[in-house]
Amino acid sequence: MAAKNTRKKKSVLVVGGGGREHALAWAFGKSSQVGEVYVAPGNAGTAATATNIPLGPADIEGLTKFARKEKVDLTVVGPEAPLAEGIVDRFLAAKLPIFGPTKRAAQIESSKIFAKELMWEAGVPTAPAEIFDDVEAARRYIDIGGAPCVVKADGLAAGKGVTVAMTEEEAYAAVEAMMVEKRFGDAGERILIEDYVSGEEASILALTDGERLAVMIPSQDHKRLKDGDAGPNTGGMGAYAPAPVIDGKTLKTVTETVLEPIISVLAEGGTPYRGCLYAGLIVDFEGPKVLEFNCRFGDPEAQAVLPLLRDDLFNVCEEAATGRLPVTRFEWRPGAAVTVVAASKGYPGEYEKGKVIKGLDQLEEKETLLVFHAGTAEQEGKIVTAGGRVLAVTALGPSVGDATKKAYGGMELVKFPGMQYRKDIGHKALARSGG
Ligand code: GLY
Repeated sequence: MAAKNTRKKKSVLVVGGGGREHALAWAFGKSSQVGEVYVAPGNAGTAATATNIPLGPADIEGLTKFARKEKVDLTVVGPEAPLAEGIVDRFLAAKLPIFGPTKRAAQIESSKIFAKELMWEAGVPTAPAEIFDDVEAARRYIDIGGAPCVVKADGLAAGKGVTVAMTEEEAYAAVEAMMVEKRFGDAGERILIEDYVSGEEASILALTDGERLAVMIPSQDHKRLKDGDAGPNTGGMGAYAPAPVIDGKTLKTVTETVLEPIISVLAEGGTPYRGCLYAGLIVDFEGPKVLEFNCRFGDPEAQAVLPLLRDDLFNVCEEAATGRLPVTRFEWRPGAAVTVVAASKGYPGEYEKGKVIKGLDQLEEKETLLVFHAGTAEQEGKIVTAGGRVLAVTALGPSVGDATKKAYGGMELVKFPGMQYRKDIGHKALARSGG
């Protein structure tokens, strides 16, 4: 007689309601260890396969109470804001297991100056920069250094605190907006002015217990709204993995010259970093340089990377959060994944909501074709738009080219008024492979 598996199934709470959180909930739901996936607040997609909890990511007290009451085995935080606010410190004080960095360690994303100083200390390749808390000094620096340059508000500014200034006028205007008009409040009190580096961008996600780390396959985001990397910046209109701009040798270089030194310097300074560390890179003729760090999984990168992961993500995150990272290398499915994001009319500015989404029932969810919801809600039995980025289709295939065709085939079945999506996700990988 087969032995009965009497091990109690675990519960996991995913904090957030975007596509990244749907992808995390999906990955946790596949774990043989997991019996219950909660998402707070989630979206119409997570409602179909997990339990949505009506608590927002900012409600740290509410989330703590929920995790305690339901004896949640692990909480995983999607967005940066609650991490920067100290959700991990609060959970740890309440002896609740949570995967993510503490408020101090999360400064790697919440303070551009903290991150830059850390990179200088760790000897990480990054663009030269100067720090300013005085507007006249910042203006003088631009008078002398000129443009192009990158002006960065120190703090979190809802993704709008970085200006790539191609002219001196743009650089002065960015300094004015941040330091004089205080458009981002305290976040712009101190700024960085950085040398402009041109090259191809890539994202590397690494999971760490504060000491050991395991690096995920490289991915590439598409930050601009329109094809050909034109139009305004967005939260990300699509992604693919693996990104060939980071080959095996370059990934080793990034691990040894970026990720390992950062984790060591943080640990040595008494601020061990547990969670997902995201290095936003630019690769130029000199090699990879760090543009920024994020203290969480990337969105939409997670939607392309996680479907390729063979390891049990819950097991890895739980052990990294509560003890030791159980792996130093991840196992990956062969091939590639491509994620195409559909957004509402008006996004990334003011956007429409409440539009009925049709065609989702025609998309049969398979291991190789997935729909991750972001800004969606259920209204009178219908799925409607409820955010700027609405949903994404992720397809897996033997190559980026195959996965791209499949993802667009899926996206063509989905319709809502004002729907916009890029038609060229994966174009840089396709150009490298000649197709
Ligand atoms: N894809 C960019 C980000 O997650 O910040």
